[in-house]
Amino acid sequence: MICLDNSVLINHGKVRACYQHPKEPSLVIKVPVGEEKETNYANIKELKGYQTLMREHVDLFCISHCYGFVSTNYGRGLVCDCIRDDDGAISKTIWDVIVFQDDCDVKYVQKVADEFCNFLMSRNIWIFDLNLKNIALRLRYDGTYQMFVIDLKGRYDDNELIPFSSYIKYFATKKLERRCQQLIERIPFYRNKRAELQYESL
Ligand SMILES: Nc1ncnc2c1ncn2[C@@H]1O[C@H](COP(=O)(O)OP(=O)(O)O)[C@@H](O)[C@H]1O
Ligand SMILES: [Mg+2]
Repeated sequence: MICLDNSVLINHGKVRACYQHPKEPSLVIKVPVGEEKETNYANIKELKGYQTLMREHVDLFCISHCYGFVSTNYGRGLVCDCIRDDDGAISKTIWDVIVFQDDCDVKYVQKVADEFCNFLMSRNIWIFDLNLKNIALRLRYDGTYQMFVIDLKGRYDDNELIPFSSYIKYFATKKLERRCQQLIERIPFYRNKRAELQYESL
């Protein structure tokens, strides 16, 4: 059994806590927080969502890959790639960069998001949950960012819709277009509200 504690905690999401793997720096372990069914089901949803996505796109680079379950002192955990910057630091989410980082080139983050969205659209990659907290910005040595989707549980909820939407590709494209638009608009929106958001997070 793998023993997790606060010294390896990366962050909490709504339903899971994400820890560094204590022995393997390239991996994270996600464990449910709370007793709700939704919480316990999140890891299964993510693994299934991930597997479906990989059946459609074998060589996806822009996601955190998932490897299956391990037992931990906090229950069954899902093992996935840990997204790290070139200097080894754990990459921040878009949310953390635009809300909590003082020096942030908002226009540049928007440009990276725009290019990322164009990539998803051009390859018909149906990832619709583009929440700012679910996308990591990997900082490269040259100062550029690369985006990675780190939470694919939403993909599971979309599975039923996907065969239909892919069949009528038009609807999936429109949905992805809307979600991409939202992502790009939210970047300056939350940046402008950051004092309030920082206060709420205390
Ligand atoms: N693969 C990863 N690499 C680095 N950090 C991660 C990774 N996955 C999750 N995190 C961090 O943990 C947080 C919560 O993880 P997430 O999977 O989104 O949980 P939830 O299902 O509760 O939303 C993320 O917002 C991010 O800060
Ligand atoms: Mg999340």
